[in-house]
Amino acid sequence: MQQALTAFFILAGSAFAAPRPQASTTSSAPAATASIKCPIVFDGRVPVGTAGTFFDSSNGLFNPDYVKGNDLKWSDILKFPTGEASRFDGAEYQAVEVTLSDKSIFQQQKGFRRAGLQFIQDSSTGPGTTGVKTLHFSVRQDTAKPLNLTHEYLNVWHEAADYSADQIMFQTGQIIGKSASDKNNFKILDRAGKSLYSVAMEKTAWQNFAIKLDYSKNQVQIYYSVGQNPLKSVAGPSSADLSGQGQFQMGILKKPTGTSDVVNAGYQESKLNEGQIYGGLFLEDSASGCVSL
Ligand SMILES: *[C@@H]1O[C@H](CO)[C@@H](O)[C@H](O)[C@H]1NC(C)=O
Repeated sequence: MQQALTAFFILAGSAFAAPRPQASTTSSAPAATASIKCPIVFDGRVPVGTAGTFFDSSNGLFNPDYVKGNDLKWSDILKFPTGEASRFDGAEYQAVEVTLSDKSIFQQQKGFRRAGLQFIQDSSTGPGTTGVKTLHFSVRQDTAKPLNLTHEYLNVWHEAADYSADQIMFQTGQIIGKSASDKNNFKILDRAGKSLYSVAMEKTAWQNFAIKLDYSKNQVQIYYSVGQNPLKSVAGPSSADLSGQGQFQMGILKKPTGTSDVVNAGYQESKLNEGQIYGGLFLEDSASGCVSL
């Protein structure tokens, strides 16, 4: 086992500049709990043993320069919690936690605290903006770094190329201007803020989401499961305006309270120590109707 893993690390390390090897052919580790059945468009799964510093330089997974605190490196921001792997990570990929601190100020956006991963191949006019694509992500909470659900959080979204809107938003906490009654829920909203799906945040279990985006029909379908259970369709297909191209982002954007100018002003408590754990990050091609469950 130890030998097999070591071999995999060496192979993976040397292959990052080139197309990455299929882990299943380079390691004898047990297969992932669920296999991905459709063509992968963007792969954000983090191979077991990947060091934090890997994310500081040009790498095969995420943009090293965006979107994060000006004085932070990704190796400061990302943690690699142990524990049960998420459904699509299995034995070969590991969880990655995006954290916030008081230094999580991007450019001059002093109202936000944010850190967001972008797939390295994602571009505002690229394959993530056309056809039928399904974004997969699993989330788990870190009891030592809880989110403060009095605030509004954006965790996963697709932002239009002109930054004027997010076509789809996966959020938690109290949405500004809305009722606090569902603040403990994850919510998936369309660009107009209409709720497409909402489910309570689990305290310890993995929650697996897949959002199928049909850019030609302007439709969204949502799949969900807890733990290692297969995904099931839970909402849609619903009409949603997906126009405007753009990019995905996965992480944490924490909005302030007490302001209408959320980008620049408002209140953020100090000594922030928050995190959101992710697993199984990838975008697959669903043009043929394929969705990995
Ligand atoms: C949560 O946020 C609110 C509003 O910023 C703040 O008043 C409160 O102290 C925070 N709670 C914790 C536990 O940090």
